[in-house]
Amino acid sequence: MFDTLSQWLFDSSGLTAHGFCLLWEPGLIWTYALSDSAIGVAYFSIPVALGVIARRRSDLVFRPLLWLFAAFILLCGTTHWLDLLTLWVPVYWLGGVIKAMTAIVSVFTAIALWRLLPQALTFPSPAQFRQANEALALSQAQLNQAQKMEAVGQLTGGIAHDFNNMLAIVIGSLDMARRRLTGAEHPTVSQCIKNAAEGAERAAVLTSRLLAFSRQQPLEPRVIDPNKLVSGMSELLRSTIAEPITIESVMAGGLWRVFADTAQLESALLNLAVNARDAMPNGGKLTIETANMDLDERYAELQTEVTPGQYAMISVTDTGGGMPPEVIERAFDPFYTTKGVGKGTGLGLSQVFGFVKQSGGHVKIYSEIGQGTTVKIYLPRYLGSASTVRIEHPKDCLPEGSTHEIVLVVEDDTKVRRMSVDALSELGYTVIQAESPVEALQMLETHKPNVNILFTDIVMPEMSGRELADRALKRLPGLKVLFTTGYTRNAIVHNGVVDPGMTFLSKPFTLNQLARKIRQALDGSD
Ligand SMILES: Nc1ncnc2c1ncn2[C@@H]1O[C@H](COP(=O)(O)OP(=O)(O)OP(=O)(O)O)[C@@H](O)[C@H]1O
Ligand SMILES: [Mg+2]
Repeated sequence: MFDTLSQWLFDSSGLTAHGFCLLWEPGLIWTYALSDSAIGVAYFSIPVALGVIARRRSDLVFRPLLWLFAAFILLCGTTHWLDLLTLWVPVYWLGGVIKAMTAIVSVFTAIALWRLLPQALTFPSPAQFRQANEALALSQAQLNQAQKMEAVGQLTGGIAHDFNNMLAIVIGSLDMARRRLTGAEHPTVSQCIKNAAEGAERAAVLTSRLLAFSRQQPLEPRVIDPNKLVSGMSELLRSTIAEPITIESVMAGGLWRVFADTAQLESALLNLAVNARDAMPNGGKLTIETANMDLDERYAELQTEVTPGQYAMISVTDTGGGMPPEVIERAFDPFYTTKGVGKGTGLGLSQVFGFVKQSGGHVKIYSEIGQGTTVKIYLPRYLGSASTVRIEHPKDCLPEGSTHEIVLVVEDDTKVRRMSVDALSELGYTVIQAESPVEALQMLETHKPNVNILFTDIVMPEMSGRELADRALKRLPGLKVLFTTGYTRNAIVHNGVVDPGMTFLSKPFTLNQLARKIRQALDGSD
């Protein structure tokens, strides 16, 4: 019974060729034969292509799957060649074996494919790749720009620091010389001193712009209403920008307040206004506008060093010649100017850039050739409760001191110290001096002078001015302190901002500035 069954199942002697099933119909036979041949050829070529990809692209994560696919399609191709053969030759065993192999490989291929599916669905599309590449190129360019600005900033900051010290001596000494003039000298003497002082003042403006660019300008931020500041500048702007340029200001209602250095912000707006004036030699319109702005994540991502958030924006727009892209790209670079020798220093926009960045803000130029330019300054919204300050401009008379007011001057640079001592004596104060913090402390210890105010440099070897002040205050709790430095990378200045409550005079200073600051520190007025 079993033998009969197995003979019926496995005896191949009675098998016929597959063509028999097609009734040896020539049309059908040829349709099958040609189709199987074409499929066989195609199925043999596909694995070759897959093999080439798998060999050459060793980085592909789905490489093993490619090999499996190649094997699977190769076996499928073989099945078709066998189908062709079995039309005439009944080699069904061979066909069975190939089909079994195909089945095994196809199961593995299917498993591998399903396992890869979650990963494959996350593969980026060519469009996404393109977008990512563009974003990468943009951030690379921004990084390069930021690094360039940082490097140039360090260089200019270093130069400006040394210049400041020298200018402190020049300006101070010229001030002193001017005060000592009796009127009996030759008239050219006073003119020479005047010219020298003017030159030194200009050099001081230049160095302060350099410091501003390098974000090392000592800032004294106050809570400001930008609308009030702009209105307060109207007279200055009108005297700087003559006819036929018209000035218009569009002030936003309910404008947010900002926390920034008043003098620096005024100087930045003046620089922008002067640039606008220069861009409109034949007249035009200058518009100053303020607005509240929300800079969102998307915007911040596309810019360098921008934190998303709320900003008060002040923009200066002109109807001048505009700037080509290559000028916009370099406009913030220090000493970059298109204005010809002696006409521009190329430091105006550098000051704007450095000051705005140091204040945690953002600055952007929009310009079209032939249409005009808009420069927008964004300063972070101030959310504290302090009220805005009145912006006062110093009056002309010098506040003086009296002999019972004792000033201790501590400065390691001999010439700068001598200049400060002379200036303070000139103002009527009693002045004692020390060339180092250690000497100053010894002086306080041994002579116990009734010092009213300590006027100290911040950066000194051995001990910082800040530490000296802390120690001196322990001995004389009522002691007033006035700090000075040309630099800000030091103990009392964090991120370019003077600690709250500390009186600070940045180098180089004029006699006028010293007189006011020392009085202000002594009287505790702001
Ligand atoms: N509003 C503007 N319209 C057209 N070009 C401008 C404008 N503002 C700036 N620029 C271009 O940017 C350059 C750099 O400006 P920046 O204010 O830094 O220097 P400057 O004006 O040349 O010199 P400085 O301000 O030191 O006197 C200018 O020389 C000018 O080419
Ligand atoms: Mg300028």
